[in-house]
Amino acid sequence: MRGLSKSFGSNQVLKALDLTVPSRQFVTLLGPSGCGKTTLLRLIAGLETATAGEISFGERRVDRLPPGERNIAMVFQSYALYPTMDVARNIGYGLEVRGTSRAERQEKIGAVAKVLEIGHLLLRKPKQLSGGQRQRVALGRAMSRRPDIFLMDEPLSNLDAKLRAAMRGELRRFHLDLGTTTVYVTHDQLEAMTMSDLVVVMNEGVVQQIGTPEEVYGRPANLFVAGFIGTPPMNLIPAQVRDGVLTVAGAPLRVALPPGAPAEVVLGVRPQDVTMARPGDPDTIPGKVWMVELIGSERLIEVEIAPKIRVTAEVRASHRAALDDVVAVRPDPDHLHIFDPATGAVLSAA
Ligand SMILES: Nc1ncnc2c1ncn2[C@@H]1O[C@H](COP(=O)(O)OP(=O)(O)OP(=O)(O)O)[C@@H](O)[C@H]1O
Ligand SMILES: [Mg+2]
Repeated sequence: MRGLSKSFGSNQVLKALDLTVPSRQFVTLLGPSGCGKTTLLRLIAGLETATAGEISFGERRVDRLPPGERNIAMVFQSYALYPTMDVARNIGYGLEVRGTSRAERQEKIGAVAKVLEIGHLLLRKPKQLSGGQRQRVALGRAMSRRPDIFLMDEPLSNLDAKLRAAMRGELRRFHLDLGTTTVYVTHDQLEAMTMSDLVVVMNEGVVQQIGTPEEVYGRPANLFVAGFIGTPPMNLIPAQVRDGVLTVAGAPLRVALPPGAPAEVVLGVRPQDVTMARPGDPDTIPGKVWMVELIGSERLIEVEIAPKIRVTAEVRASHRAALDDVVAVRPDPDHLHIFDPATGAVLSAA
């Protein structure tokens, strides 16, 4: 995609977007609701026309081609199964309308059903299936076509948490088996992180960062990505640079600063990279315990280091803390991120 823009009336939904999806990879578009993910997928599919820019599959420019000539298969959030057809016919319908022979259809339906382990469901109607089974039928319909590209728009969002977790693994496995280029849309960062070769983080129609899951998590390019990826979210704390020393709420921290850092910066540190310390320990920020939350095997301790400025530490559940305890937090100096508040861009990544 090159210089791809899309407006609906005066609402510019995609803004001169450049994006390359490498062949055979699983690429996820990740971003908050309304950022333009579905619109981008529909442009690739040919269900919408771009306002400006180009889309090519390899060397072949496709943005003027009708959807039927792009050889893509799309899986929608709603699955969009035909309610009156049984599972086998749902899977084979794309082949049927293309005039594929009955024998060939049956062979392909059988092959797909085997991969998806739905052979025993072929004679059922969609309403006789569970959500996860319907989801597989929708995938089967897409797979039977042997498309060049799979486009998937939040295909797991209708499933309960447990099934979603199982299907994440299955989808990843199908992808590794089939090797079909896939563009997957989600606003669920866990899906993006667990399934993707590459994650494209979007906000307001603009690509914020493209990278492997490790890169977007470990080296966020800007404040948006830093705050969007990771649970609980990264602490983003106002900080000052005074005579080459980073200070947070008046406490100096020994950190290698990027050259030319402005006087005011934002310090980013993940709760997993904050430990509890005693007030007065070097390289810590003093404060008072504001909230304590148990989240299974871990405990979140929120420490107020200045009025309305809090830092969350994720510690072992065995760590005890009481409200208003006088404590200190120690951000791990090897896992700090420093951002320019004026541009949002990262200045140095640990
Ligand atoms: N057909 C349309 N006509 C007018 N505006 C539209 C149309 N389709 C989408 N939009 C607008 O474009 C913006 C992006 O919508 P889109 O559906 O691409 O978001 P999304 O990232 O898929 O969000 P979600 O995660 O909620 O599905 C929204 O502001 C939406 O209201
Ligand atoms: Mg959408």
